[in-house]
Amino acid sequence: MIPQSYIQEVLERNDVVDVVQSYVQLRHRGRTYTGLCPFHNEKTPSFVVYPDTQSFYCFGCGAGGDTITFMKKIANLDYVEAVKSLASRAGMPLPQENDETGRQRSRILAMNKDAARYFYDQLNTNQPQAAQARAYWHRRGLSDNTIRRFGLGYAPDDFNGLQRHLRQRGYTDQEMLEAGLIKRSQKGNLHNTFWNRVMTPIIDLRGNVIAFGGRVLDDSKPKYVNSPETLVYKKSKTLFALNVAKKDPSRRYILCEGYMDVISLHQAGFGTAVCACGTALTEEQVKLLTNYADEVVLAYDSDEAGQKATARSLELFRNTAIKVTVLNIPGAKDPDEFIKRNGADAFGRLLDKSANGIEYNLDKLRAKYDLSTDSGKVEYVRDAVTLLASGLTPTEREIYAGRISEQTNVSKATILNQLESTVRRVSDRQRRQRQKDLQKEMLPAQIKVPHSLGGEKALAAVSGEQQLLAAMLKDPSIIPGIRERVDPQELVMPEDQALCRVLYSMPPQTGPGILATLGSQLDEGQMALAAQLLARNSDNPLTPKDVELFIQRIKQRTASQRQAPQSEEEMRRRLADLTKAKTQSNTQS
Ligand code: GTP
Ligand code: MN
Repeated sequence: MIPQSYIQEVLERNDVVDVVQSYVQLRHRGRTYTGLCPFHNEKTPSFVVYPDTQSFYCFGCGAGGDTITFMKKIANLDYVEAVKSLASRAGMPLPQENDETGRQRSRILAMNKDAARYFYDQLNTNQPQAAQARAYWHRRGLSDNTIRRFGLGYAPDDFNGLQRHLRQRGYTDQEMLEAGLIKRSQKGNLHNTFWNRVMTPIIDLRGNVIAFGGRVLDDSKPKYVNSPETLVYKKSKTLFALNVAKKDPSRRYILCEGYMDVISLHQAGFGTAVCACGTALTEEQVKLLTNYADEVVLAYDSDEAGQKATARSLELFRNTAIKVTVLNIPGAKDPDEFIKRNGADAFGRLLDKSANGIEYNLDKLRAKYDLSTDSGKVEYVRDAVTLLASGLTPTEREIYAGRISEQTNVSKATILNQLESTVRRVSDRQRRQRQKDLQKEMLPAQIKVPHSLGGEKALAAVSGEQQLLAAMLKDPSIIPGIRERVDPQELVMPEDQALCRVLYSMPPQTGPGILATLGSQLDEGQMALAAQLLARNSDNPLTPKDVELFIQRIKQRTASQRQAPQSEEEMRRRLADLTKAKTQSNTQS
C-alpha cells in the first residue's frame, strides 16, 4: 500500500483542472469547467470538472471520480501506476515499494516463473506422457524453436507435482493459492489447477509470467483452463503475445481469437498477432493497442461466434484512431487452420485484401437483399444509408455512396441526398437524446428504482439517501452525527449502502479532499457514483435542514415498511433481511 499521506500530497500537487486540461480542451463556466468527454464520443460537451471538490463527472456516460481516477482511465493504468505517473508529473520522488502488496506481487511473479520453467522441463522429460505432449505441439505444426520462443510446456497428469516442486523452492501453499497455481477442492484438499494439459504462459509487457492457459491434448472438455485473476493478472487488461508483438516494427496488428492462432501466426512470420485471453475484447485492451497499432486486422474464427465477436469489436474500435479491417478466412475455421492448409504467403495475400469495417458491414447487408428486384434495391439503399449515417467523414460517405450507386444503379446524387438527410436526422436525434439524458441526470427524483423495492416511497427515499450521501461527501464533518442515526441497511440501493459503509469507516477529517481519502477503498463504480453525487449537488448548499429532511424520508420508508408488508414476497424478503441482520449482530457480539 502507498501511504495515504503520499497520495494526499500527489493530489495536492496535481490540480484536477490542470491534469484534465492536458488531455481535454476545457472551458471555464462559473465555478466549473466543461469539455468534450474523452471517454465517449460526443459532439456537445457533457463532461464537467469541479475544482472545489477536485472531481470530474460526465453527464453523458457516467464516468467520474478524482484526479487519480481520471489518470487511470485516460492512460489505462491501475491505481498504483496512476499515482506514480501523477507523482512524476509533479516531480515527486516515487513511494517506497517495500510494501506488503509489492512483496506479494513479486513473490507471485517469481513463483509463476518457476512454474513456467517446471512446465517447460516437464515437456522435455523422457516420460511417455511428455513424449505425447511434444507430439501434440508438433502435430499442431509448431517447431521446437517456436516451443522454446513461447516457453510452451506440459502440466503432467498428477495431482500435486507442481505443488511439491514449488514447496521445495520455498513457497507456501497459501502463496500458491494466491497465484492461482493450486486450488482447494470442495472437500478441502489442495490440488494443481492444471494437469494433463499443454501449457502456454502469458507474459506481460515487462516480461513477467503473469498467468497460464492450458489445453487438453484431445477433444475432452473443458478445452482450455485459464489462470484465475490474481494480484498480477487482470484479464481485461492483458493481450497475449503483446510482449513479442511490440518489438515488431509494423504497426499493423492482427487480432485473433485464440492462443493457437497467435502462436502459429508468429511462427509463420506475422509478428504482430495478439489475442485477448479467453474473454471478449475489452475497451481497456483496445486502448492498450492504440499505443502500438495504427491498424488492426480482426482475424476471428469464421463461425457464428467469431462473426459476433467481430461485430462487437468493430464497435469498440469505432471511436479510436485505429483503422480496422476485417479478415475473411475462406475455407478454414481460423487463421491457424488456414495457414496450415495454405501456407504463410496465402495468408499474407488475405491480409492485404482484408476489408475495412464499413465494407464488411455493407457486404453483409448486401447479401441480405436481392438486388435484381426494385424492392430489394430500395431496402438495401435504405439500410445502407442508415449504416453510413454515423461515424463517417464526408469523404468516406462520398466513397461509399459511389459504391452503393454502382451496386444498385441508383444515381449517386440520389443516394447522397438521402444520406445527407439521414445524417441530419440522426444527429438531431442524438442531440435531443443527449439533452434528455442530461435533464434526467440532473433530476435526482428520476432515479430508476428496482420495482421490487416498491413504489413512490422508495423513490423518495432513494433521492433522499443519495442527497444524504452527497451531503456527507461535501462536508465529511457531519458523518459521525449521521452514523449515529442512519444504519446503512436502511438505504434502498445496494450501491448506496456500500458507499455509505465506506463513508462511515473513514477516519475523521474535514475539507474537500474526501475523494482522495476514499480513493483506495472505492471500486470504479463506487467512485463514479461519488463523483456523480458531488456533480449533481455542486450548486446545492445542502444545509443542516436539508440533511434533516433526507433522514426523515429514509425513516418514513423504513417505518412504513415495518407496518405494512404489501405482499407475500415482500414479507419473505423482510424476513430474510431480519435473519441476516440478526446473524450479523450475533457475529459482531
Ligand atoms: P485450438 O485451435 O482448438 O487449440 O484453440 P484456439 O486457440 O483456436 O481457441 P478457440 O478458437 O477454440 O477459442 C478461443 C479462445 O477462447 C482460446 O484461446 C481460449 O483462450 C478460450 N477458450 C476456448 N475454449 C475454452 C474453454 O473451454 N474454457 C475457457 N475458459 N476458455 C476457452
Ligand atoms: Mn483454433
